[in-house]
Amino acid sequence: MPSLIVRPELPQDRPRIEILLDQAFGHDRHSRGVYALRTPGQHVPSLSYVGVDTTAQVQGSLRFWPLNLNGSHEAPGAVLLGPIAIADAHQGQGDGGVLIERGLTDAAALGYGLCFLVTDSPAIYRRYAFTNARPRFELPVDLGAKKSFLLMELQRGALSAWPEGTALSAIGEPGQPAYS
Ligand SMILES: CC(C)(COP(=O)(O)OP(=O)(O)OC[C@H]1O[C@@H](n2cnc3c(N)ncnc32)[C@H](O)[C@@H]1OP(=O)(O)O)[C@@H](O)C(=O)NCCC(=O)NCCS
Repeated sequence: MPSLIVRPELPQDRPRIEILLDQAFGHDRHSRGVYALRTPGQHVPSLSYVGVDTTAQVQGSLRFWPLNLNGSHEAPGAVLLGPIAIADAHQGQGDGGVLIERGLTDAAALGYGLCFLVTDSPAIYRRYAFTNARPRFELPVDLGAKKSFLLMELQRGALSAWPEGTALSAIGEPGQPAYS
């Protein structure tokens, strides 16, 4: 049974989220290729969540990032899911699943057309309608063979607008809000 309460991320949560992400992915996580799709500070505010325990301590985090497709971010836009991290003591109780479902539901409600994902644990996302993003979509960096590059249609038909070889890239200037 989920042990955390999901609420929107607040600015004061950020130091604790950094700790959670370092614990989950290592202090060198910013060198991972997927960070090429995340402009620092530019996660989508309305799609950024934390899971808090009974003492209000942040024990989980999920963020989404705005993406350009072939240099465009016109509606229906695209988002990148992740990183997602749940503190060790709370893993395996369903909280990660709750965060993912909340994020995908809200992203669809906000009108985003596509959700992308880069992961080395595709099994986590098996229950959702993710499929291989290649060859229709290309990444700006080579992530290596171990990473799965997946996508999910959030709006029916959103995929059909994009030809094979469509390039993903990050949106935003560091430190400036992507969306006000
Ligand atoms: C991955 C993570 C966010 C999952 O959160 P969680 O709260 O432990 O997951 P849940 O209990 O909600 O489980 C959701 C589903 O994913 C599966 N799952 C969880 N972790 C998994 C893993 N590492 N590999 C494969 N499947 C996994 C669960 O079995 C469950 O599936 P089921 O309901 O069919 O049994 C969490 O374990 C974590 O923070 N791990 C370290 C960081 C990480 O790997 N993030 C994901 C990178 S894409």
